[in-house]
Amino acid sequence: MSHWSATVSEQLGVGIVGSGFIANFHVQSWLGVRHADITGIASPNRDSAEALADRARALGVGDPTTTDDVAALARDPRVDAIWITVPNHVRVEVVERICEEVASGRAQLRGIAIEKPLARTVAEAKRIVEAVEGAGLLGGYLENQVFAPALTRAQEIIWKRGAALAGNPYLARCAEEHSGPHRAWFWDGRRQGGGVLSDMMCHSVEAGRALLTPPGGDKSSWLTPLSVSATIAGLKWTRERYAAKLAETYPGEVDYRNHPAEDFARATITFRNGDGELVVAEGTTSWSFVGAGLRLTFELLGPEYSLQVNSLDTPAKIFLSRELRGEQGEDLVEKQNAEQGLMPLIEDEALTYGYTDENRHMVEAFRAGRQPRETLREGLAVTELLMAAYLSAEQGETVSLPTDLTDFVPQVAQGTWQQG
Ligand SMILES: NC(=O)c1ccc[n+]([C@@H]2O[C@H](COP(=O)([O-])OP(=O)(O)OC[C@H]3O[C@@H](n4cnc5c(N)ncnc54)[C@H](O)[C@@H]3O)[C@@H](O)[C@H]2O)c1
Repeated sequence: MSHWSATVSEQLGVGIVGSGFIANFHVQSWLGVRHADITGIASPNRDSAEALADRARALGVGDPTTTDDVAALARDPRVDAIWITVPNHVRVEVVERICEEVASGRAQLRGIAIEKPLARTVAEAKRIVEAVEGAGLLGGYLENQVFAPALTRAQEIIWKRGAALAGNPYLARCAEEHSGPHRAWFWDGRRQGGGVLSDMMCHSVEAGRALLTPPGGDKSSWLTPLSVSATIAGLKWTRERYAAKLAETYPGEVDYRNHPAEDFARATITFRNGDGELVVAEGTTSWSFVGAGLRLTFELLGPEYSLQVNSLDTPAKIFLSRELRGEQGEDLVEKQNAEQGLMPLIEDEALTYGYTDENRHMVEAFRAGRQPRETLREGLAVTELLMAAYLSAEQGETVSLPTDLTDFVPQVAQGTWQQG
């Protein structure tokens, strides 16, 4: 075998299922990923699949084939691993379909990587984990924020210079906030699995768990959850003016007058850490934040130190005067809310939000035949905490852990939640 073919055979061929918002972020991030190309895309939307394939070719990150059949994608010999970026309500069927192809021997894959949130309920998350493990595949949980370079670098330093001398950190505070999602299905509690708690608290919970764990450590063995207390509320989008706006934007699909979902959630989770100490993760998430755009904040507090990250504290800012009346866009920051005044500009969102490092890590783990740092079991652990948070919010009480939440379906996910 020539040196060239040996090098080529080491490349991982990656197929993507779904060709929407996050699939585009993954393709963009591939500029910073080595040893892998995007080789296939499966989506029922042929136009967006073709557009995504063109984008991959234009960026030089692969020459993907397109199909509307996920089984065909799994069987494609150029595809070694699959990234799942489909909406939450079709997640289980898509994963199970791919795993059937592998288990039956019709497809040969190394691994599967699945977008957050892993599932809408603990029961669904368990089905996904069982299907992937049953097919003998490696499994990655695509939780980008724990790969955000500002978080990982600050965490590394704070543990080395702070925790090593003064003791473990005791409080993590993480938040993700923006002005609301970009597609109808996110707003629909039944399809999405809830409101902002399901959609975004998964990030804040995992970022909090990561910060409280020594860098590179195993979160699930270091942190034993003890209790969850949470609140959910409809602060903005349940107001008549905004419910009417949703109905007008998504006619027949989103009805916040009769089937609202929460646009604010907060959760406080207590853990016992590996040294037997009590530590706390606080998460706050909202679809009712109107600022420049998406804002991620992370804080970690310990005995003699603290850490702070705010994704809108950007080194680059631009100013546009009141004389300018430009088109609306998202070219400065995700979920951008304005095109005037002093605005933060994120120079490389795929890097800042963690997608680049996340995908580089997943690719290297799959190539080496080992489980990545963020496994599907971490995704299951997060789902269990999110369900405990919904239960706590519904009951108005702190939920003690462990408790079996396999059969629990939040009221918001059933479409029956009404604000008290
Ligand atoms: N990590 C993050 O910060 C982040 C950000 C946005 C979205 N997400 C997650 O990614 C997933 C997708 O979100 P999105 O914003 O890209 O949604 P989207 O609606 O923009 O895109 C979904 C894509 O899946 C395709 N699709 C639908 N049903 C399918 C099926 N049965 N088989 C194959 N493809 C199918 C659609 O045609 C579309 O191309 C969600 O789970 C969401 O939570 C993660």
